[in-house]
Amino acid sequence: MEGRVVEVQDAWRQGALVNDAQYREMYQASVNDAETFWGEHGKRIDWMTPYTRVKNTSFEPGNVSIKWFEDGKTNVAYNCVDRHLETRGEQTAIIWEGDNPDESKHITYRELHAQVCRWANVLRNRGVEKGDRVTLYLPMIPEAAYAMLACARLGAIHAIVFGGFSPDSLAQRIQGCGSKLVITADEGLRGGRKVPLKANVDEAIKRLSSPIVDHVVVVQRTGGAVTMEPGRDVYYHEAAEQVTDECPAEPVEAEHPLFILYTSGSTGQPKGVVHTTGGYLVYASMTHQYVFDYREGDVYWCTADVGWVTGHSYIVYGPLANGATTLMFEGIPTYPSNSRFWDVVDKHKVNIFYTAPTAIRSLMGGGEGPVKKTSRASLRVLGSVGEPINPEAWEWYYKVVGDSRCAIVDTWWQTETGGILITPLPGATALKPGSATRPFFGVKPEMVDAEGKVLDGACEGNLCIADSWPGQMRTVYGDHERFEQTYFSTYPGKYFTGDGARRDADGYYWITGRVDDVINVSGHRMGTAEVESSLVAHPKVSEAAVVGYPHNVKGQGIYAYVTLNEGENGDDALRKELVAWVRKDIGPIASPDLIQFAPGLPKTRSGKIMRRILRKIAEDDFGSLGDTSTLADPAVVDDLIDNRQNRG
Ligand code: PRX
Repeated sequence: MEGRVVEVQDAWRQGALVNDAQYREMYQASVNDAETFWGEHGKRIDWMTPYTRVKNTSFEPGNVSIKWFEDGKTNVAYNCVDRHLETRGEQTAIIWEGDNPDESKHITYRELHAQVCRWANVLRNRGVEKGDRVTLYLPMIPEAAYAMLACARLGAIHAIVFGGFSPDSLAQRIQGCGSKLVITADEGLRGGRKVPLKANVDEAIKRLSSPIVDHVVVVQRTGGAVTMEPGRDVYYHEAAEQVTDECPAEPVEAEHPLFILYTSGSTGQPKGVVHTTGGYLVYASMTHQYVFDYREGDVYWCTADVGWVTGHSYIVYGPLANGATTLMFEGIPTYPSNSRFWDVVDKHKVNIFYTAPTAIRSLMGGGEGPVKKTSRASLRVLGSVGEPINPEAWEWYYKVVGDSRCAIVDTWWQTETGGILITPLPGATALKPGSATRPFFGVKPEMVDAEGKVLDGACEGNLCIADSWPGQMRTVYGDHERFEQTYFSTYPGKYFTGDGARRDADGYYWITGRVDDVINVSGHRMGTAEVESSLVAHPKVSEAAVVGYPHNVKGQGIYAYVTLNEGENGDDALRKELVAWVRKDIGPIASPDLIQFAPGLPKTRSGKIMRRILRKIAEDDFGSLGDTSTLADPAVVDDLIDNRQNRG
């Protein structure tokens, strides 16, 4: 199956934005002369003050600086809403599909405009100004999009925290960016179960080291009982009665921050990734159009959560900038049945569908029946994102979901990249199952070996990007040095992605996964260090080391080696207790799948834990443990192997 090539079908090429020859020509132009290319494509959005300078970027160690369209002024909300009013005011901007299949609604661009303005006025009445940070902790309801766009309208910077994070994680993020205002809902609703969002916000605020939050705006989603603190908390629907639905969009500099999004790295606390206005929107909208071959009138559905970057760029900003109809789904793929995705596709006649391999793998488990009883005739393009898609899942997506009729776009990118960097284009790229294929316009991938030597031709190595693209993150919030250190110091002069990859003889990229201490669980990024620091905070734990291991559905699972304090007994009850501890501390996405109690961890004589060995044991790969003779106590390895947990 490795060598299989799926040629571009005639139907994909017909009416597509670009064919193969056009892709090659545009790609060459984009990398030969980025100024001219982006100078032209920057005009795809409306500017209140047009730019005259296009690119001003440096990856130079000690002097990393990224500016695009820097003397232009624009507003993201204006581009996503106002500019469409004249031509498509009555067109649906957002289709919302509730957790309950009986609940859905269509929001036109004109309605969206009124909602965003009202939201902006509610925020402004509570002192939100240009440059202020606003934390959003919301379920997948249209209000999430309204609130994001309202922040953008005022020039305020939103920082969304995924609704699955714990009060502690939320507190850390509110504190990290200094939000004075938090937007949440009474409760979220997923798969028929309620998520106590407001209660979590109350807990988070109690844990802040300084009382920075002045206002909490609460959307009523379920009507569940919540505690409202007088003077601080207000229901959105009550606040909205006090304001009009008109509010001008504030023109901001192209490099004014649009949002902060926290993401996990190999060390320390999550980083606040900063994306700015002009370049980000140009890149998000352009990739949305080309990668999904978006056509006028298409219904487009990305199943991500707005708490992740995919939701930012490809539910809200890219599609709305393009005047698309974007579907927002509150629920989960398995509720009320395994057919839900495909039922929704049929109900709303979805043409473009974008999801994660983990969702596909979990649905594969239910067999073809739940898919085949639906029509899916409207589908044209199927996207994948978040982790490598294994060829088996790719084939199932292609054959069973797409009836061998739809193009598959396996899109590789990161929170840091703002938009898709490596991807097929439906009308242009012959597909290879499991490969993200070729770079998007303006993207210069470079493969390097461990010493930083640039590799040519077919090779395997670490994936870097040699030059800037407009959607690139600009800094780590409040810590530019960490930005330089994390991304530009390993291979000086290049952006290092943290991913390993293979490039084949056709120049196709095959992403093999993270080469740092980041693991990818169900498409969610987790720093092993974060899980470790949570585990060692437990009173019975003395030491912990966390690694990833191959998991049939999640892609990677979390394997934790735990050394207990003297006298503690490692049994199943304690395993359960530790899993619950991490869930409560970080959130359900960080729950260890397997915990092995280990009297000792493999360390070098200088005390460094040798994770390479732990990874191999977690993968059941004992044949290639490498040289263990440099360990302070080589005998611990045998014990670790003897007592390893069953991967199942
Ligand atoms: O390892 C890569 C993997 O996800 C990482 C980025 O995670 P995050 O910032 O959470 O963004 C996810 C959504 C853009 C990458 O470093 N990854 C993402 N997409 C793919 C992928 N790995 C292989 N193939 C992909 N298509």
